[in-house]
Amino acid sequence: MRCTVFGTGYLGATHAACMAELGHDVLGVDIDPGKVAKLSGGEVPFYEPGLGEVLRRNLDAGRLRFTTSYPEAAAFADVHFLGVGTPQKKGEYAADLRHVHAVLDTLAPLLDRPSVIVGKSTVPVGTAAELRCRAVELAPAGEGVEVAWNPEFLREGHAVEDTLRPDRLVVGVDATSPGRAEALLRELYADLIAAGVPFLLTDLPTAELVKVSANAFLATKISFINAISEVCEATGADVSALADALGHDARIGRRFLGAGLGFGGGCLPKDIRAFMARAGELGADQALTFLREVDSINMRRRTKMVELATRAVGGSLLGANIAVLGAAFKPDSDDVRDSPALNVAGMLQLHGAAVSVYDPKALDNSRRLFPTLTYATSAAEACRAADAVLLATEWDEFRRLVPADLDEVVRSRVIVDGRRCLDGAQWNAAGWRYFALGSSPRDNSRETRSGRSTSRVDA
Ligand code: UGA
Repeated sequence: MRCTVFGTGYLGATHAACMAELGHDVLGVDIDPGKVAKLSGGEVPFYEPGLGEVLRRNLDAGRLRFTTSYPEAAAFADVHFLGVGTPQKKGEYAADLRHVHAVLDTLAPLLDRPSVIVGKSTVPVGTAAELRCRAVELAPAGEGVEVAWNPEFLREGHAVEDTLRPDRLVVGVDATSPGRAEALLRELYADLIAAGVPFLLTDLPTAELVKVSANAFLATKISFINAISEVCEATGADVSALADALGHDARIGRRFLGAGLGFGGGCLPKDIRAFMARAGELGADQALTFLREVDSINMRRRTKMVELATRAVGGSLLGANIAVLGAAFKPDSDDVRDSPALNVAGMLQLHGAAVSVYDPKALDNSRRLFPTLTYATSAAEACRAADAVLLATEWDEFRRLVPADLDEVVRSRVIVDGRRCLDGAQWNAAGWRYFALGSSPRDNSRETRSGRSTSRVDA
């Protein structure tokens, strides 16, 4: 089949490449000629494991192309996926739909035959219905233009796998006038459906809400364990062992109970805020006031990390050399949008520390966002003469660090584990002072500790 994908960011580029991988003829569309040129040349403009190979394989096979031309896209296919960003509005909680509207307002006037616009972006509930009215008004094909919603659940760092082997496919269609959308999407996703991926058909608002509810639930789960970790800090309990024990209950599950620096990125934080804003507009604001608490528990993690670092260096950051390992909002991504790691690095600097940041993939993006921080080209370089080493993003490279890697590099053997992913006993035994976010001050100041290994974050 033929389809187009509008927007070639993390979501759109992955979707376009993976639809081609499923055997379809795909045209990716973006207004940024730089991105289109890179993708056309087989280069992914961001870091996503495995995506480069899928992209190049399908470019070579002639199933995938990229363009900036809307007329070309309108002529190419009858199914148009919409995968542009919906960031947070400046100074407001609500989502900024300007990119979604721009695509629709440019594409619809070019649709002169029956077509289906399939939204994948995360949008406030009610957006699909509004877009359908707008499309019908603007398109020469009028009522022949349908709008369906097929939310995307992919995680950065696992985008290819999540797109080709998703947990479920959710497809919302216009309940008042069901058209061809369901049949077309069943055909496009035929291989996935045949492989047993559940295909869930809903109305438009339900599909829109499934996505934001899923992200709200994940954010709540993380903030839940971080709230519990504050109680653990106060009592000396071990939040990692506690999470392990909770996780054995199949109704709860261990995933997303990784206590630490909390969630960031371009999705969870802005999605829970946009969800609250939309509920408010709908008169259901009371329903989601708990998300305000989820948000503030999460933001508090960042200040707690700065406080812990301050304690670790003896009470004042002024003049301290701090190494921050990790800048991306999570491992296997170069995304620094609302990154807890970078945020902490910035705060440490504001408190007078000399901060050196290292990340395996996110250095360029970090430099653009926080040009005043110092960036190192390796973990060892970042840690040179450090008074404390902070682990802020749990890249494998950092999880695997052992004391001997840094013994001779740092000025003081102090490590602060913001993701609770190191073996504290091992570091203490090697003469380091190991601090973990979410552990009690008593545990954190102990010179040697044995026999207890912290659990790893299971994301
Ligand atoms: C999230 C959702 O997981 C996807 O299903 C969704 O499609 C996507 O948002 C989106 O809306 O587009 P993503 O932002 O890639 O995906 O990242 P996650 O893997 O969800 O991680 C979010 C944050 O939570 C990261 O900062 C991570 O470090 C943090 N986290 C995760 C924890 O602090 N503890 C955990 O136990 C797990």
